[in-house]
Amino acid sequence: MKISARSISVLGLRSEDDFQIVHMTSYLGDTPPNEFRKQLHELADWIADFRQNIKSLRVAPDDAPGAVRAQLPSRAPEDGEPFGKILADIDRLVVPGMVHWSHPMFLGYFGWTTTAPGILGEILSAPLSVNAMTWRTCPAATELETVVIDWLRQWLGLPNEFGGVVYDTASVGIMHALAVAREEAAPSTRKLGLINRDLPRLRIYASDQAHSAAEKAAIALGIGEENVRRVPSDDQFCMDISSLRHMMAQDREHRFRPLAVIATVGTTSSASVDPVPEIAKVCGESKAWLHIDAAYGGGFATLPEYKWLTNGWSEVDSIVVNPHKSLFVPLDFSVLYVRDLERLRRVFTLVPEVLRGDTIEGEKNYMDYGIQLGRRFRALKAWVIWRLLGRAGIVSRLREQIRLANLLATRIKIDSRFELAAPVSLGVVCFRFVSGIGDIGQGSTTPATTNGKLDKLNSEIVERINASGRAYLTQTKLRGRTVMRIGLGNVLTTEEHIRKAWEIIQQTVSAL
Ligand SMILES: Cc1ncc(COP(=O)(O)O)c(C=O)c1O
Repeated sequence: MKISARSISVLGLRSEDDFQIVHMTSYLGDTPPNEFRKQLHELADWIADFRQNIKSLRVAPDDAPGAVRAQLPSRAPEDGEPFGKILADIDRLVVPGMVHWSHPMFLGYFGWTTTAPGILGEILSAPLSVNAMTWRTCPAATELETVVIDWLRQWLGLPNEFGGVVYDTASVGIMHALAVAREEAAPSTRKLGLINRDLPRLRIYASDQAHSAAEKAAIALGIGEENVRRVPSDDQFCMDISSLRHMMAQDREHRFRPLAVIATVGTTSSASVDPVPEIAKVCGESKAWLHIDAAYGGGFATLPEYKWLTNGWSEVDSIVVNPHKSLFVPLDFSVLYVRDLERLRRVFTLVPEVLRGDTIEGEKNYMDYGIQLGRRFRALKAWVIWRLLGRAGIVSRLREQIRLANLLATRIKIDSRFELAAPVSLGVVCFRFVSGIGDIGQGSTTPATTNGKLDKLNSEIVERINASGRAYLTQTKLRGRTVMRIGLGNVLTTEEHIRKAWEIIQQTVSAL
């Protein structure tokens, strides 16, 4: 609602902002349309400025925990506040208190997938404000979800007997996949639960490099985290098949039931790839469910030269791929594929009376494929960004990530103070500072103490760089040793940023 200067003075207000406060506090309904339009324009400028200037921000804050909270009122406002003031507080309080995942020098985890098209997709889903519980509650959201899931299926070269569903995260996808495995191994668990039934203990196998989502799923499903067995990996950080066979045989001897194997395509630490065809063979022999955790690596199968990543996938039961890790869709967007999606539906379909009338069409109702009832319009952002980039645009950006990862590895190899800690895989580089112990301290130089000192130094290098606000790395453990890790994924990260990051690492090491 627009108000004239005269009315402001007649009402005894100081400004148009005051009027908006009075309006939002004292009247019912929404922001007046003209005011909303003004706010949207302001927001559009804010977003474009933020994106354009992000490179000049610190990548991470250097404040102590609690610094943001200390600047915020502990009580909620009694009266409404003007939008301009809230936006100013975003600049003043929120932005400086953030790790900027979309910063070009953010090289932690798997980098980050923010792109301008992705932001447009996210923005669009807000006003459409969908709850796609059933087909009827939003036909377009349901049908678009089915379409983008199938686009991705085709890009991955999966047979069309695989159907999918979009969840928020891979952790949730893995849990749903294992719920189906559990129902098939112990029928009627959906109905009766696991307790007081004459059931064997169920076992899940994943390599020592696999994500902890396996244990989380076992906790949630009543299988128990100790029933996730970690299979040793080989010198390439891939699951060792003879150990898997041995552990399964051992369990069967103890009358445990091998329920499922989780093979990872793109492990969290080093992006290693488990030998899926061999694992599929073992699972076939033991009638165990085979789930592929391709949360990170799956996206790279869109590259013809990386098609091999999907070797053996047509044999498996389920696959999770996170387009929010490697296919440029903003968090959160994870797809679970199940061979014959009906297996998933049978475990989770449940129609409450209040939705009975909404389910008569016989169309796909995505509420039937998981725990979640209310569902936001996640498919929209994937549809927008995949159309704006096209497969070719995605492929060329992923190739650039791989090129930059290998470029960094070349620099690491020629500096004798460092060594690669794992083969470079996809966009991930793990490396370790290994300079002679004589350079870094005195005292005992047994291998154990040397390694212990090097662990601390590698950790300290990452901590110092992150605290400097100039770049952001992660540290991880490989074979018990602390290593530094860089993950490429951001479209803003260029060769120049990698050169700069390497310089920062070298300077930090020289200053130790
Ligand atoms: C291989 C792998 N699987 C699963 C996950 C969990 O992903 P999400 O955060 O989508 O649950 C991760 C996270 O980094 C991962 O690297």
